[in-house]
Amino acid sequence: MNLEISIQGETLNLTEELLRRYNVPGPRYTSYPTAPEWSDAFGFADYERALSTSNASGRPLSLYMHLPFCERLCLFCGCNVIIKKNHDIAVPYLETLKEEIAMIAARVEKSRHVAQFHWGGGTPTWFSPAQLEELFAYTQNHFIFENDAEIGVEIDPRATTIAHLEVLRRLGFNRLSMGIQDFNPQVQQAIRRIQPYEETKELFDACRALGFDSLNVDLIYGLPLQTVSSFVESVDKVVDMKPDRIAMFSYAHVPWMKKQQGALTRRIPQGMEKFQIFRAGIGRFTDSGYHYIGMDHFAKPDDELCTAQRNRTLHRNFQGYTTKAGPDLLGLGVTSISGVDRFYAQSYRGLEDYSTSIGRGELPVMRGTALTDDDIIRRAAIGKILCHCVLDKKELSAEYGIDFDGYFADEIARLGALCADGLVELTPDSIRVTLIGRIFIRNIGMIFDKYLQKPNDRPVFSRTL
Ligand SMILES: C[S@@+](CC[C@H](N)C(=O)[O-])C[C@H]1O[C@@H](n2cnc3c(N)ncnc32)[C@H](O)[C@@H]1O
Ligand code: SF4
Repeated sequence: MNLEISIQGETLNLTEELLRRYNVPGPRYTSYPTAPEWSDAFGFADYERALSTSNASGRPLSLYMHLPFCERLCLFCGCNVIIKKNHDIAVPYLETLKEEIAMIAARVEKSRHVAQFHWGGGTPTWFSPAQLEELFAYTQNHFIFENDAEIGVEIDPRATTIAHLEVLRRLGFNRLSMGIQDFNPQVQQAIRRIQPYEETKELFDACRALGFDSLNVDLIYGLPLQTVSSFVESVDKVVDMKPDRIAMFSYAHVPWMKKQQGALTRRIPQGMEKFQIFRAGIGRFTDSGYHYIGMDHFAKPDDELCTAQRNRTLHRNFQGYTTKAGPDLLGLGVTSISGVDRFYAQSYRGLEDYSTSIGRGELPVMRGTALTDDDIIRRAAIGKILCHCVLDKKELSAEYGIDFDGYFADEIARLGALCADGLVELTPDSIRVTLIGRIFIRNIGMIFDKYLQKPNDRPVFSRTL
């Protein structure tokens, strides 16, 4: 079967066989090496040393705070959440988080300013406006924010009030990311997330009226009961709302890690059916004037993400694509991830382990890793492919003192098959991702992932499409 797909006015032909070949489990590369490769031999003393050495760089900071609570569990949810209908835990969690903020601030040079700040979840607005205001004030007492810092938060419209929005705006938040997923009532019922369009639109318009600079919305394709026409209706509603950016995530079905996904009893579109939904979404967004950045993301053509992609200054971190170049990422709160210098560290998953560690005066590190020189070179190669859609061999060779063709001889040979399938163009100087290749960009990054070469019998990643 021949499948046409239209992206940014260009029509591409795909085949069922091509989809089968590339729709395989693979990482999203918010880090390299990916989290399954990290080890619990990496502990708080290692992270402490990493923070200390990173100070010499004077690099700016990106602060991520994980606010993990939600009142109800959406069945599709793949996030690190803790379900609490009762809010009694709010005060002790915030007290522990504040202790962690103070511990980290004491280990980071004051001259290193915050360029990026993000509250993610769970649902940050599970906390009351007053609690959020206090937490933000406490953070500002411990870190200096750059004047043009990006200050963002994830909001679930079902758990966000106008009072929340007013406080966030007053505190200086300039970016909001709103979870929508799908507007179809049957789909919403199947995923146990009832979120009527009218209420969502009303809140979205309130965000606009309050003057937040950048509004993002999240959709997911591949959810139970979705069809091409039902998804197109959701996409059209989103286009009418005029967000600045859109994340259209591929539903990651990983019931071996997220048990509640096993309770999704209605038909889940897969393979060709899922691709048709994806194709409809991508066509509709790009026909409506959005630019396809790659890896699920769209932005208006004048958005700084598009400019950064053109200028090759786009980056990728745990929050997705960003224009902020190379700050050290400090994660705070349960399960949060830090990327400092050449180290990754992840906090404990459980509230008890997290607070016990902080109570002992130890940074809460559950696992992590120290990158080898080879990891750093491969991380850069994968990052350039995912962000710029082109890898300049001379540039990478000069940056890392390697001879690209010699160092990556095996990878170049394996890219031959992707080149034959039209995913990349190989020239003596560069590896260029084609428009079709953008759809399978994870697969292209995977060629450079050394850890995927070793046998693994456990299911770890969701499928790439
Ligand atoms: C922490 S949630 C966003 C904030 C808020 N809790 C909400 O749901 O509105 C981040 C986003 O991850 C995406 N997400 C969650 N589970 C997913 C899954 N299994 N596959 C793909 N995307 C998922 C959703 O689009 C969601 O909006
Ligand atoms: S509200 Fe967001 S974080 Fe909470 S369960 Fe639903 S998708 Fe997951």
